[in-house]
Amino acid sequence: MLLAQVDDGVIDVEEKLSQTINTDVNLLLDASLHIVDSGGKRLRPRLTILSYLAAGGQNISEVIPLAAAIELVHTATLVHDDINDHSLTRRGKISVHAQWGKTFALLTGDYLFTKVYELMAPYDSTYNIIMADACVKLVEGETLQAEAAKNGSIDRETYKLIIERKTASLFQAAARMGALLAGAEESIVEYLAQYAYFLGLAFQMVDDVLDVVGDPDVLGKPIGSDVVQGMGGVANQNGNTVMEGATATGIGPIKIMLAQLIESGAIEIAKAQANEWAHRAQDALLNIPESPSRDELNNLVHLVVHRNR
Ligand code: IPE
Ligand code: IPE
Ligand code: MG
Ligand code: MG
Repeated sequence: MLLAQVDDGVIDVEEKLSQTINTDVNLLLDASLHIVDSGGKRLRPRLTILSYLAAGGQNISEVIPLAAAIELVHTATLVHDDINDHSLTRRGKISVHAQWGKTFALLTGDYLFTKVYELMAPYDSTYNIIMADACVKLVEGETLQAEAAKNGSIDRETYKLIIERKTASLFQAAARMGALLAGAEESIVEYLAQYAYFLGLAFQMVDDVLDVVGDPDVLGKPIGSDVVQGMGGVANQNGNTVMEGATATGIGPIKIMLAQLIESGAIEIAKAQANEWAHRAQDALLNIPESPSRDELNNLVHLVVHRNR
């Protein structure tokens, strides 16, 4: 019953996204729909909808544009991220820059980001400030990461700061805005935001593990890219420096680097770190009233930790 309601909400989010991409510039339309219609787990809009329900919201339709805005920010970052990471596939398809080139991929990302204003316009300034703050943090996180990778120096502390900004901030905004819109009292909003923050950290740590041990066909994106660029979340987990400054190209050398990394035991350490953050997310949930939506938020933690895509 609840799951069907949330699934319907996610379908409404997808429709909202398709309607929002409405430019008469064919290239922008094609490139935007290429990424927007290519699936994706839709984890963040699910988080917004579930947080809204767990905080007592009754009318899912009011949260749909908000959830769509969150997913659109995420989608825009994927287009730009694939340029920065030189990734040729995304969501099982050719990435936007690989198909249309860097210039048009930059512009497509800009277009998607700009359309977020439109989706956010009906919501009052509180929501717009939360969204702006999350977008700023995201760009800061991506910048800190690129800078640290360039210097070949990502220690655990820097890694956490980076993933806090580039990933957890949007998760947190997704949950916070959903809970606020439900009219929940402040403590409930804060606990849901805390839950989402730790979920976001765990999510990115698992993503970085999958970058080493995942199956590119299942993931729908390449593996090994973090390691090659010397910015992997796994390599720094045990202070391993094997990958520092690595510049390997080609499947053979990348496979060797990944094998070395697995051998080093860093994967187990990274998984333990993901589990610790996952537990902290679950602990935060215990502070909000019991409900089927709260159970589902708890399930989301399992899905994030045990996912293979
Ligand atoms: C990928 O996010 C980018 C990261 C923050 C690691 P997702 O794994 O949620 O991407 P989609 O939306 O399912 O493609
Ligand atoms: C994704 O980061 C982009 C943002 C979080 C902004 P990654 O580069 O780690 O994610 P994937 O592996 O390409 O999806
Ligand atoms: Mg990246
Ligand atoms: Mg990437």
